[in-house]
Parts: sequence; C-alpha cells; structure tokens
Amino acid sequence: MAKESSPRELGEMLVKAESGITKQVDITKVGRGAFNTKGSSWLNSVVRDFITREAIPFPLRAVDPYAGQGDMLKLCESEFGMETSGYDIQDGLGWEVNDSLESIPRDDEAICITNPPYLANYSAKRKSMWPMVGRYYEDSGRSDLYEIALDRCLESFDHVVAIIPETFLHSTYPKERCQRIVILEANPFEDTTFPVCVTCWVPEKGQDPTIYVAEKEIMRFSEMVGIKGDVTRSNRIVFNDPDGNVGLKAVDGTKSDDRIRFIPGDDFDYPRSSIKVSSRLMTYLGIPELESEEVISEFCRRANEIFEEYREKSEDIILSGFKGNNKEGKRRRRLDYRLARKVILEALGESVQTTLPQE
Ligand SMILES: C[S@@+](CC[C@H](N)C(=O)[O-])C[C@H]1O[C@@H](n2cnc3c(N)ncnc32)[C@H](O)[C@@H]1O
Repeated sequence: MAKESSPRELGEMLVKAESGITKQVDITKVGRGAFNTKGSSWLNSVVRDFITREAIPFPLRAVDPYAGQGDMLKLCESEFGMETSGYDIQDGLGWEVNDSLESIPRDDEAICITNPPYLANYSAKRKSMWPMVGRYYEDSGRSDLYEIALDRCLESFDHVVAIIPETFLHSTYPKERCQRIVILEANPFEDTTFPVCVTCWVPEKGQDPTIYVAEKEIMRFSEMVGIKGDVTRSNRIVFNDPDGNVGLKAVDGTKSDDRIRFIPGDDFDYPRSSIKVSSRLMTYLGIPELESEEVISEFCRRANEIFEEYREKSEDIILSGFKGNNKEGKRRRRLDYRLARKVILEALGESVQTTLPQE
C-alpha cells in the first residue's frame, strides 16, 4: 500500500518524507514486538550453565512476563523440569493478562526467562506506533521497549535471562547486575533476523559481564570499553565530506570478502552526490594532510590493517551488528564513526588514549 496521508494512522510508516509515501506495518508485530522464539539456539552451554549454577535447585520455576507462544518456557520445562508460568498483554494465549511494561508481580522464588518486545522510540514514531506504545517511554528515561522491559524484570526477579537486541552491548543501559552476555549468531526467531544476544542477570551489583560469541569466551565488558577507547573530535578529519579524498565503506557486505574498509576516494564506487550529514554506511572523509595518491593509498592500507587487528582482537564485538548474517552465516558488522576516528588517527600516527572509564 502506498499513499499520501497526514496525519498518519496507527502503524502507517513514512517511507519517503519528501513525497509523503507510507506503508502499513503489522501493528501487533511492531507494537507488541511479537516475534516468537523458536528452537533452542538461545539455550547454549553458557546460558545453561548460568541457569543451573545460579537458579537451580532454587528456584525451580520460570516466569516469562512476555510469554507469547511460550516457547522459551516449554524448553525450561523439558530441559530442567521447571514449573512455568507467564503473562502477556494479549488475551487468548493461555497466560494471565498483564501489562508487564507497567509492572510485573514480584516473585522471589522464580527465574525470569524472556524475550521481551523491542522497539526503539524513534522507530515507534516513524511507524506511527506512538498512540499504542508512547506512554511507556514517557518518564522512563529509556529509548527502547526492551530497556523498559528489562527495568520491570530486574525490579521483580533476582535472576533474569533475557534475549535482547545486540545493540545492548554498546548502549548506556546499566550493566551492574549483568553477569554474562552471549552473542547469538544462529537466529533464534522464526520471522526476523534481528541481531540479538542473551543476557544473564544476578541480584548482586558490581558485575563486569563476560562476553561470549556463541560458546566462546571473548572478554570482559570493561576490556571491550577499553579497546573502543576515548577519542576526542579532531580537525584533521571531516566526515561526510562529498569532496573527501578517502572513501569509507562502514558496513560489511553480504559476501564474506566484502568487508568494512577504507578506500582511496577516487577508487570508491559510491556516488558523491549521495553523501548527507546523516550518512552512516558509505561515506567520504576529507583528510587534507593526505596530499598525493601514494600517501592516500598508504594511509588506507595502514588504516585497514589497524582495523582488521581490532576485529581479530575483539572477535568483532566492538562493532555493532548490522542486518543479520552474511552468506557464510557470519554476523555483518557496522563501524561507527567514533571508532573510525580512532582508527584514522592511529593510521595518521597520532597516539590515541585507549582506556575509558566504565559507564
Ligand atoms: C518477542 S514476543 C516473545 C514471546 C516469547 N517470550 C518467546 O520468546 O517466544 C513478545 C511478547 O510480548 C508480548 N507483549 C508486548 N507488550 C507487552 C506488555 N506490555 N505486557 C505483556 N506482554 C507484552 C507480546 O504480545 C508478545 O507475545
């Protein structure tokens, strides 16, 4: 469906601002985040170890406050023999109806196992979902429904296992009760390829979560923050400069050899006329001190080498996930401009502070 309208109806997403073209989104899927978890890929050995070490033998009950089809709970029953119960805002699913973004009954004797709804507030506005969900964000200080859901779960349960967007890793959401973060490469959903992680929470504050990719331990959260470093703005580089001498492809392609990279501007096959102040995936950088073709090529070689080292050292976790996996099943990644600036300054020979205070 494509038509002009103003103001927009619930769920009418603005596709093209200039022409007012909109399309209808699925209100239940978007507003209620009703993407159900299928299969057992979320319950790998790291999450299993957390549940059995932290939660079993006490408590032996699992509650999902956003239970949907109840697939996570069914797995808790079959794998751990747990008793289970759940809530959902939708009637007719077999659970007690409860608005769990408002409040969840406190339960000291159960572990919360859930995959809550996700929806960023800017996305709720763009998709005209504000009348349905806007009230949750107001006064919450949070910018995504999953963060509000986490607040409610952590208020009501000592132990929580929650599948949430992988962007959590780079968000400012407080992590002091988070003990483990498991990045899933296998998609646990039946109908979306959104990059996600499983987070495991305990009652005690002062945690420095261990980050895993699937079952492989990568590093502590504080180490990741240290690697990302603190980089101040620099007048040596202009981002999103249509006349820039260096190209930056800031996102992995779908083919495994089409990686994030710096490219001499004249060799970058991306229309300069498409660069906007808001460009985040493909851009040109103005670096005036790189004055000849040779110097530009040498700079790109060094920057790519430094960047690949970061990727290897961190197993990619310092980069945000981007739109699912490549053709080899490896998560595609995006380089944010803050880290790009760090790599560029290092390639230009500037010593860059590499540690940051935690949150
Ligand atoms: C992402 S689905 C997850 C379902 C289930 N946890 C799973 O993993 O299969 C989210 C569920 O949360 C429910 N939901 C959305 N907003 C809610 C709210 N405010 N209170 C309770 N449930 C809500 C939706 O109806 C949907 O069934």
